[in-house]
Amino acid sequence: MKIISVANNKGGTGKTTTAVNFAAWLSAMGHGTLLVDLDPQGNATSATMDPTKADPNRGIGPLLEGEISTKEAIYETGYLPKLHIIPATIGLEVTELNLTRGDGSYTGGVRLKDRLAELDSHSYEYVVCDCPPNFGVMTTNGLYASSQVLITMEPETFALDGLEMFMTKITPRIRKEVNKNIKILGIVLVRVNTLRILTQNIRLEVRRRYQTLLAETEIPVDVRLPESEGLHLPVCVTDRYSRAALAYENLTTELLKRLG
Ligand SMILES: Nc1ncnc2c1ncn2[C@@H]1O[C@H](COP(=O)(O)OP(=O)(O)O)[C@@H](O)[C@H]1O
Ligand SMILES: [Mg+2]
Repeated sequence: MKIISVANNKGGTGKTTTAVNFAAWLSAMGHGTLLVDLDPQGNATSATMDPTKADPNRGIGPLLEGEISTKEAIYETGYLPKLHIIPATIGLEVTELNLTRGDGSYTGGVRLKDRLAELDSHSYEYVVCDCPPNFGVMTTNGLYASSQVLITMEPETFALDGLEMFMTKITPRIRKEVNKNIKILGIVLVRVNTLRILTQNIRLEVRRRYQTLLAETEIPVDVRLPESEGLHLPVCVTDRYSRAALAYENLTTELLKRLG
């Protein structure tokens, strides 16, 4: 079971879209995959299932608070037999507070890693965690459990500074304080408009600084993505031959090679 977190300290950078569609393609390619929604906003949940069907007593909150078993927290999506999800639950902010001491540190309560370890190691080949846009207790849980982190980035000027911060300041601290063995699976450019000169400059700059960490596959701007989210389905289900679905298919193939 390989656990991968999609993280970035910035919001609106395609983390959730990438976590959802990477997990969906992994499952469509035949790999048993569990998507874990660690963001109190619950976007990965509503992008993959009718969020009103997520029972507040069965999901990531009660799981991390030790109230239910891991199996009880898991939902089948049905439309992709190999894609299962642990949804975010209403009141996840309260779980965050319960897991955090006054000084912001972790209470040492139940960890996602320990809860996932309860599963039969053959249950899932991949676990994909969608993290919130900060390095609070939920992201820490995801990174503590993960062997790899996937970073998404929009090709905008300020995003380079954010990426630099992630690589030079945040990653060393994660390795020191949370998970010394965590590896970077890749940096993915998302919401890409190839016609913009800025895109080409940023792509060159990211490649110059981080070489092969930058994924070859880029995800283009495609309105099918927000549309499919509204239908609570990954884009490979709603529009398999859309630009976005094909791009995420290529990205998944590329990342599978890296995962070995
Ligand atoms: N490639 C894309 N093309 C068009 N819209 C996109 C694309 N990727 C993401 N979006 C939209 O941008 C918004 C933010 O993306 P999201 O994945 O939720 O970011 P994050 O999880 O980092 O906050 C969402 O509404 C999503 O539908
Ligand atoms: Mg998100």
